[in-house]
Amino acid sequence: MPWDPRPLNDGREIPSIGFGTWKMGNGEAPITQVDQAISVGFSHVDTAQAYRNETEAGIAIRESGLERKEIFITTKYSGLDGLDIRTSINNSLKNLGVSYVDLYLIHHPRLAVPDIPTAWAEMEAIQAEGLVKSIGVSNFEVDHLAILLASAKVKPAANQILLHPYVYARQLPMLEYAAKHNIVIEAYSALIPITTFPGGPVDAPLLLAWTKAKGAVVITTQTDVIRNSTSSKKDRLLGYLNAGDLQLTADDILSIDVAGAKGPPYARRFARQLLRVGGGRRLLTAGLLGTAVVGLMLSGHLRFCS
Ligand SMILES: NC(=O)c1ccc[n+]([C@@H]2O[C@H](COP(=O)([O-])OP(=O)(O)OC[C@H]3O[C@@H](n4cnc5c(N)ncnc54)[C@H](OP(=O)(O)O)[C@@H]3O)[C@@H](O)[C@H]2O)c1
Repeated sequence: MPWDPRPLNDGREIPSIGFGTWKMGNGEAPITQVDQAISVGFSHVDTAQAYRNETEAGIAIRESGLERKEIFITTKYSGLDGLDIRTSINNSLKNLGVSYVDLYLIHHPRLAVPDIPTAWAEMEAIQAEGLVKSIGVSNFEVDHLAILLASAKVKPAANQILLHPYVYARQLPMLEYAAKHNIVIEAYSALIPITTFPGGPVDAPLLLAWTKAKGAVVITTQTDVIRNSTSSKKDRLLGYLNAGDLQLTADDILSIDVAGAKGPPYARRFARQLLRVGGGRRLLTAGLLGTAVVGLMLSGHLRFCS
């Protein structure tokens, strides 16, 4: 199997590619898309309170006819409506129409209120009650995980983070820390080098294969369904799955690392332009602003509504 399941530190397993429901909205579209993903072979659905389509994901999962144990469901505590973790997981279970989820994540460290140890103790409690099989975090940095581990009885099974070649160097300490503590890294937005910064030296299968080679579980998606003809979108999904067969050599991986470290083509062009034109207060201000925006996009700060 190309996307083999990965062991988690609590004795369970996670399918190493997941289908996410962010940006799909409500109604028929997410049902059709999750249904299509399951029909081509995805067995891992990644949703969140914040995506507001847990209900639709649940419908598609039930309509797939798969037994509950054949599908891995992740959802996230996003602090929706200011509700606490216990109330939120109970709402999510109702929305999804299941008695447990496989993985429950704190969506972002700023949602761990009143503090990380207290929020994590609540995660441990709902796990002990069987509402969630595995517990983890998302968008945590090394400092956040260190605070969590200092008081944890149960280690997080996973940390779901932004990971693609343009942020690889910045995320490397997190990857190393997670490996040391046997925490699985789940990578979201691996395709940013083609969706947000097209023109670089990588395509979708290569990016997914690179992410897999870095040891991460891939969380991807496909949001549009072409009405009356789903074939090309189905092909895209099959392309994601087939990327699991790509064997990158150490040289391939290194050249993607090196290209990634240079930053996206837009940022490189922008920097060259600035150097060429030089001076000018307006240009400098625009340059600083542009650099800040690119920096924020790369660090994921502009993306946390997901
Ligand atoms: N924990 C978090 O904070 C967090 C944050 C972000 C995302 N996530 C999770 O990760 C999932 C995936 O996130 P993402 O959307 O950022 O993932 P992604 O894997 O980076 O991007 C998926 C998008 O790539 C597009 N795509 C694929 N192949 C392409 C090609 N050859 N050319 C152009 N576009 C192409 C698809 O567009 P089409 O839809 O048009 O096919 C699809 O919407 C989300 O649904 C969510 O579950 C979690």
